[in-house]
Amino acid sequence: MAATHRRSTPASTNAPRPDGDDGRDAGFPVRNLRFELDPARLRDWHPAGPALTMFFNNLSIFFPAGERFFIRSVRAHAKQVTDPELKAQVRSFCGQEGVHNREHQRYNALLAAQGYPIAEMEARIERLLARVEKTLSPRMCLAATAALEHFTATMGHLLLSEPALLEDAAPAMRDLWRWHAAEENEHKAVAYDVYLAAGGNYPERALAMIIATLIFWAKVIEHQARMMKVDGRGGRPRSWLRFANILVGEPGVLRKLTRPYFEYFKPGFHPWDVDNHALVEAWAAQLAASNGTYGAKA
Ligand SMILES: [Fe+2]
Ligand SMILES: [Fe+2]
Repeated sequence: MAATHRRSTPASTNAPRPDGDDGRDAGFPVRNLRFELDPARLRDWHPAGPALTMFFNNLSIFFPAGERFFIRSVRAHAKQVTDPELKAQVRSFCGQEGVHNREHQRYNALLAAQGYPIAEMEARIERLLARVEKTLSPRMCLAATAALEHFTATMGHLLLSEPALLEDAAPAMRDLWRWHAAEENEHKAVAYDVYLAAGGNYPERALAMIIATLIFWAKVIEHQARMMKVDGRGGRPRSWLRFANILVGEPGVLRKLTRPYFEYFKPGFHPWDVDNHALVEAWAAQLAASNGTYGAKA
């Protein structure tokens, strides 16, 4: 059963523009931002404490290798994209993920300086994804990318829709995570739409989501355990209870993402079923109002 519908472009960018361009060939901006993360705050940049700080740091470790995999998966199918609008969005997608990649590499270098085995953890993800590419077909890799992009989009939606989650965090960290959250939503349908253009089908994308879920959360738990060990808290039940609380208590990342997660399994699902470009636009207005101070240390 091939899915044929496509609604990649948010309604706002489909609107006629004053310059007469109907916006049909438009991608979205690639913002070349840099974030001046405070090396002294790596372990305590989130006011909710070290467990939640570590959870965000944990996610950062996935991005350099993960986003390179996303770009490769999408580019491998670029020839099957005929729609000029989607072609432009593919270019924007690769540009945005490229900048995310760079900024998370800078973030992760600071984590490495804190004594975490970042190089080894990143290399393990790189090897895992290389194995995935060797074992699965290119289109299945693209289905996995679409699945993982659903994760980044729904997590990003959570961060944007509940600003209190980052409000009192160290400013540059708060800005970095909001920027990434916003751009993940801006480009949330690109990999999915390329997957459809490549002839993707429901059973394959559902299976890819199941595989991606199992691998991703196993790695999240492994990363958290390794980082807790470095901090001397690996064997403490209280540390694990705090981690469990992040997932199912407060803020309850897993609890809040369960419903959007299962939406992906609807046969007619499309990422823009949740029309959240107002959240992205509100973030872009904050960026514009920051007068170049966005991402500054304080
Ligand atoms: Fe990204
Ligand atoms: Fe992304």
